[in-house]
Amino acid sequence: MRIRKAVFPAAGLGTRFLPATKAQPKVMLPLVDKPIIQYVVEEARDSGIEQIIFVTGRGQRAIEDHFDISFELERVLEGKIRDTTDKAKRESLEAMLEEARGISNMVDTAYVRQKEAKGLGHAILAARELVGNEPFAVLLGDDVIYGPTPCLKQMINSYSRYKCPLIALERIPGDEISRFGVIDGTLVDERLYKLSGMVEKPKPEEAPSDLAIIGRYILTPEIFEILGSLPPGKGDEIQLTDGLVELLRRQVIYGYEFEGRRYDAGDKLGFLIATVEYGLRNTELRDDFREYLSNLDINTINGTDPFPKKKTDSKQ
Ligand code: UTP
Repeated sequence: MRIRKAVFPAAGLGTRFLPATKAQPKVMLPLVDKPIIQYVVEEARDSGIEQIIFVTGRGQRAIEDHFDISFELERVLEGKIRDTTDKAKRESLEAMLEEARGISNMVDTAYVRQKEAKGLGHAILAARELVGNEPFAVLLGDDVIYGPTPCLKQMINSYSRYKCPLIALERIPGDEISRFGVIDGTLVDERLYKLSGMVEKPKPEEAPSDLAIIGRYILTPEIFEILGSLPPGKGDEIQLTDGLVELLRRQVIYGYEFEGRRYDAGDKLGFLIATVEYGLRNTELRDDFREYLSNLDINTINGTDPFPKKKTDSKQ
């Protein structure tokens, strides 16, 4: 069966990004000029997903508003386009209007509320009715992935051959591995591992491999039954990894080492790295931004002068 639906759990509290996330969802923080979540929605759309089910919590109306039609904004832009005589300005306003309309037309959306942030597994369970009895994708908004082929599309291609649950994997060197769920498995095809075990956040010396589970999954509806009867695990939350361990007892699960570059945009440092690299890819900004970065004197910024002069100032 084709993968038509994708669940976007976005109801976490985003504690790593406080205070920015006190009153707004983490995934609405802008990466250059788009909220983080839009990059992930675009990946889902470009992978053939027809419906996105957002799992949201309190204070997360901004996600719904972002993917909805904004009549006021469209009316204001239309008015400005009518009134302007400047051709360049009109074209820029038209591009803005097209962009605003494009966001609301991107893909069909549905919303379900996770009443309490009781873990990723619990958030996915909240989407059970809307998903129904079919395989589906899960995309975590904090993992933004850049690559030649959308990560989820690579996974769907692999799923269509093997028809088993599939999780995305990334090689993580050294001690960093203990921040992730880690798999044990055997390579059975190009980039594809048949899983034999999974451990959540192991000590580096106890990690069964250097292959970490990242925020893309293709799951079958059996996972709902498992998550529904799972006792709370680490942090008193219903953990998806615990559910996957149980699923692995019943079914074959594969791991797919995706091709591309992942950014952990839910973490302050990961977010900064993503901002710099997406800034350098942005066609409007990249020339000026590259020049700024190549003139940047890191030691002055980090050192004693709190108001470093721009390199260009000395020429004046
Ligand atoms: P994280 O582990 O990143 O947790 O959740 P978090 O709350 O978002 O952020 P930190 O760690 O406190 O800073 C992984 C994904 O699962 C979702 C989050 O929104 C994120 O996309 N999630 C987590 C839920 O939807 N509900 C939950 O109860 C927990």
